[in-house]
Amino acid sequence: MARGKQIYEGKAKILYEGPEKGTLIQYFKDDATAFNNKKKAVIDGKGVLNNRISEFILTQLNQIGIKTHFIKRLNMREQLIKSLEIIPIEVVVRNIAAGTFSTRLGISEGTELTKPILEFYFKNDELGDPLVNTDHILTLNWANQDELSFISEQALRINDFLVGVFRGIGIKLVDFKLEFGRFWNGEDSEIYVADEISPDSCRLWNIKDEKKLDKDRFRRDLGGLVEAYQEVARRLGIMPEGTNIKEIKTGITKITLKKK
Ligand code: TMP
Repeated sequence: MARGKQIYEGKAKILYEGPEKGTLIQYFKDDATAFNNKKKAVIDGKGVLNNRISEFILTQLNQIGIKTHFIKRLNMREQLIKSLEIIPIEVVVRNIAAGTFSTRLGISEGTELTKPILEFYFKNDELGDPLVNTDHILTLNWANQDELSFISEQALRINDFLVGVFRGIGIKLVDFKLEFGRFWNGEDSEIYVADEISPDSCRLWNIKDEKKLDKDRFRRDLGGLVEAYQEVARRLGIMPEGTNIKEIKTGITKITLKKK
């Protein structure tokens, strides 16, 4: 599928114009960044795995009636998506204390929260994505009350669903980040899930030994990131047994053997 001109380059993905009006092509890079771009690396194979894992999760969300921008995966690194008007908020759902929640509030990593906590961050790299509250979102007109209520409901529903999906494959969903956007249809707009859901945007701990199977392997210099993402893909049933890690890294293998 011919892609149009590049319209945006983010830290881990590039967006191109899509083949039809209202569509885009999302390209997954191998670049990894952390701490608002202060730490950077290229990790061979990461983009291929995130493309595949995000396809799997967003397809499952579509199947349970949660609208997402995902249309179809095009190849190892690209997917066709709906073009949305991105709401400049990152929604973080937390089930277990970790990361900035633990450092900000002095709560040890691994502490189970009695109910999921929703946090909102203003999506702005120059400001380092600051934590905001619902008053900021409403008063600064990033979203209206109906949209915000819908986004919060959807985030908790997605959390319930994904906690179950990951528990079923021996993984704890510690926390994750969501983005949303408006899909315009004439005068009306609907809220859709945007961006990606992958081990880049989730904390995933192996239930058996609490091994980290997510981007903390890069943030914390633990090594073995691609192997961990591959393990997540394998357990989700989207990577055939025996797939050669070298092939993923060079992006030449077909990891689509298991057709729906
Ligand atoms: P945090 O503990 O660093 O605030 O991260 C919470 C969750 O959000 C974690 O699963 C990683 C994810 N996340 C992103 O996807 N993008 C980001 O820019 C940040 C800061 C976190």
